[in-house]
Amino acid sequence: MDTSELMASQIAFLGAGNMASAIINGLLATGFSPEQLRATDPSEKALETLRAAGLEQLSTSPEQLCEGADLIVAAVKPQIMSAALAPLKNKLGPNTALLSIAAGIPIASLQRDIGDTTPIIRCMPNTPAMIGKGASALYASEQVTDSQRQLAEAVTNAVGMTVWVAEESLLDAVTAVSGSGPAYFFALIEAVTHAGTQLGLAPETALALTVQTAIGAAELAQRSDLPIATLRENVTSPGGTTEEALRALTEAQFDAIVTDAVKRCANRAKTLGEEFG
Ligand SMILES: NC(=O)c1ccc[n+]([C@@H]2O[C@H](COP(=O)([O-])OP(=O)(O)OC[C@H]3O[C@@H](n4cnc5c(N)ncnc54)[C@H](OP(=O)(O)O)[C@@H]3O)[C@@H](O)[C@H]2O)c1
Repeated sequence: MDTSELMASQIAFLGAGNMASAIINGLLATGFSPEQLRATDPSEKALETLRAAGLEQLSTSPEQLCEGADLIVAAVKPQIMSAALAPLKNKLGPNTALLSIAAGIPIASLQRDIGDTTPIIRCMPNTPAMIGKGASALYASEQVTDSQRQLAEAVTNAVGMTVWVAEESLLDAVTAVSGSGPAYFFALIEAVTHAGTQLGLAPETALALTVQTAIGAAELAQRSDLPIATLRENVTSPGGTTEEALRALTEAQFDAIVTDAVKRCANRAKTLGEEFG
């Protein structure tokens, strides 16, 4: 799919809540036109916000709105996905792909709800997508064409970066690393800020220093060609302050604690996926 084909595609959003709005704003910012974007939501209020952003193809009922779309982005809560897809069941041909951003719902379950002819892509996004800094992983079922893959990737790239995984089961690992990942980093920010206040810093000063340090470390990790271990060693002089802090983390088995937490998250994602069947 070349740029002109991409810019002629029609993308329909099923659900016009937080994630859909963030993606729509991202798509508009990356050059998609409001004429390419459609949205359906039972809430007139949600649609009104999109009307203000320039969208005109808006409806409270999905059937007509989704007809002829190249991609439908299913952005409703997981527990209402079946009900939201029901009006579209067996109504879409293979030229309309479904991109589900709902956590945990397996392709088999989505396929049952939408019908056999619809190609399906599953996405695991994360909350920094709300500010265009998301990390999304995509998995495509066999029916999905290269053009449909490119269009799905344009959608997730509009709110951050995208990776593809080769097996659906790897989305549980993605959930454990990036889906739930923001919470781990928030927990670390809370802990370091708390420690800073115990050492006498004003809470707002400790928080500002911690957040900026997290941003700086993350950006340095992203931009530098050096391995992360080297970046860590570069701030760790022998016999110095950082070495003392890292020794405390090692003694408390920091690496093992994080590994256990991430693996437990992946197991929970697997169990929840099995519950959706
Ligand atoms: N928020 C995140 O950062 C994030 C991160 C990762 C994954 N996700 C996934 O993204 C999905 C959407 O999350 P969200 O935070 O954007 O939720 P949200 O703000 O609640 O948006 C969902 C929207 O869907 C509407 N809706 C309800 N029933 C519908 C139907 N039958 N057809 C069409 N629309 C319907 C809801 O309307 P009402 O409010 O009137 O019910 C609401 O406006 C979820 O599946 C979640 O797992 C979100």
